[in-house]
Amino acid sequence: MPDPVQTLTFARPDDWHLHLRDGQELAAVARFTARRFARAVVMPNLKPPVTSVDAARRYRERVLAALPPGSHFEPLMTLYLTEGMDPAEVDRVAESGFVCGIKCYPAGATTHSEAGVRSLASCAAVLERMQERDLVLQLHGEATGKDVDPYDRERVFIERELAPLVRRYPRLRIVLEHVTTAAGVAFVRAQDTGRVAATITPQHLLLSRGAMFEGGLRPHLYCLPLLKRESDRLALLDAATSADPRFFLGTDSAPHARAAKESDCGCAGVFSAHAGIELYAQAFEQAGALDRLEAFASFHGPDFYRLPRNRGTITLVREPWEVPERYPYGAGELVPLAAGGRLDWRLRDTGSSA
Ligand code: DOR
Ligand code: ZN
Repeated sequence: MPDPVQTLTFARPDDWHLHLRDGQELAAVARFTARRFARAVVMPNLKPPVTSVDAARRYRERVLAALPPGSHFEPLMTLYLTEGMDPAEVDRVAESGFVCGIKCYPAGATTHSEAGVRSLASCAAVLERMQERDLVLQLHGEATGKDVDPYDRERVFIERELAPLVRRYPRLRIVLEHVTTAAGVAFVRAQDTGRVAATITPQHLLLSRGAMFEGGLRPHLYCLPLLKRESDRLALLDAATSADPRFFLGTDSAPHARAAKESDCGCAGVFSAHAGIELYAQAFEQAGALDRLEAFASFHGPDFYRLPRNRGTITLVREPWEVPERYPYGAGELVPLAAGGRLDWRLRDTGSSA
């Protein structure tokens, strides 16, 4: 056996799917992402949601103000698609220079999705305009409704919504956010024009659904879409490590206060920004594919979004570290992914917050 690699230096990555929240909570988590990633796609599911370019501009200012001094980090903002959105807002997005797409939450699918979309048909004018303006639609790909089993929601969404959408708008660029199933991976691969891509989270690469029930109920592993079967995890790992440019990094780091998760009706979301690149290194190494990490983390995303690749680098060193049990979070605390566990790769400090 050759000695394992001790140091990994590669182009600075980006996070193509991130929840930063607002106020004190934003102030508590922004630094984790800014330390690792050059850019992140910031989700708009605040309360109230970010539905206009003006609101996104103000949110962006708050994100920038929450960063540690000396940070080199660019938030890429998104709008929250509502059935009432004016197609003229799409033009404002296209001309904004800082909003990189419009996010569609099916109403009722997840955290703060009440204002989301009940029927994609009612968004036809906006989708049409997005296609014309070559804007990216970011999709939370889960069917809702009591008739759909929670474990089938992604597959059913693809059959009922995504496949017809792709046919109806043959040039619309779409990211199937946080793909979690073999069916999702197969769907993305079957589209041959390269205009449908998917992000993959660290928890879906590292864990399958048994982890949420190991020795008892693990509320900190509850996220939407849910962790899936081991066969799904292996399909995701294969997609992430296959050098296929349609798959790229999106942590979906989604902090919630401990009390909101350890509750009789707990919130969905896994916080992973504290180790947003290290967790992927762990998964890629387990798959024997560390040499594929850079393309997944640093190249495929900007190529899809037609943004420049980052010029700086980051370095990970093989120095196992113990993940803290908790981090401060506004008035409360949050429990990170892999809390109390050991990760093999540590981010080397660059001296600045870069
Ligand atoms: O688990 C999740 N948490 N899934 C989502 O889609 C939203 C997110 C959140 O905002 O907490
Ligand atoms: Zn999300």
